[in-house]
Amino acid sequence: MRVSGLPRLLALIFVLITTWIFVRSYISFNMKTIRLPRWMAGSAYKEKPVVKIKCGLSKSCPANFLAFKITSGAANVVGPSMCLEDQVIMSPVKNNVGRGLNIALVNGTTGMILRQKSFDMYSGDASILVKFLKEIPAGMLVLVASYDDPGTKMNDEIRQLFSSMGSAYAKQLGFRDSWVFLGARDLKGKSPFEQFLKNSPDTNKYEGWPELLELEGCVPRKVY
Ligand SMILES: *[C@@H]1O[C@H](CO)[C@@H](O)[C@H](O)[C@H]1NC(C)=O
Repeated sequence: MRVSGLPRLLALIFVLITTWIFVRSYISFNMKTIRLPRWMAGSAYKEKPVVKIKCGLSKSCPANFLAFKITSGAANVVGPSMCLEDQVIMSPVKNNVGRGLNIALVNGTTGMILRQKSFDMYSGDASILVKFLKEIPAGMLVLVASYDDPGTKMNDEIRQLFSSMGSAYAKQLGFRDSWVFLGARDLKGKSPFEQFLKNSPDTNKYEGWPELLELEGCVPRKVY
């Protein structure tokens, strides 16, 4: 019996260590999942920090790309939001969104925000938007989110301007449609970043409005 003493001891230590490792990883997994308060989570948080991806994207962007996320408004209740490189450009919290079309201009090279503005497309003056769109400098990214009604004051000139930025849906944008879009001034071809939902009683998620839309992605920085 004396001979097997050492192997037994080693086996016991092995089992203890394996159990300890298993329990530790199980606990730290649980902490991330159910978000225990910090004081309970203890060292598990410090050792394995949860990596936060820019703008809360589902996966991070490669170097030399700009991370963005655009969310349209929900019915006429919750305003839209836009984020670029982890910076919130427009949101209800920032109190700079409005019914209609919300538009932000971003330098496609540096990612710097040039302007953001909302345009009332229900009772506003469409010529203000026409002027704004015509004055966009070359090389600018254009981020757009609808809220409540982007369509009533929509006209052919505005449709044409958005189409020239790579939009496929501006042509049919109408009353209470949902629309999120990222394009660029004088883009050749269609932008891959666009989503559109028609206001239709058969498919509407809310009474009177389609579901809100979320668009996220990585735009290559424009390098000259
Ligand atoms: C964007 O930023 C680059 C680099 O600073 C600058 O050269 C360019 O003029 C800017 N573009 C616009 C349209 O402001």
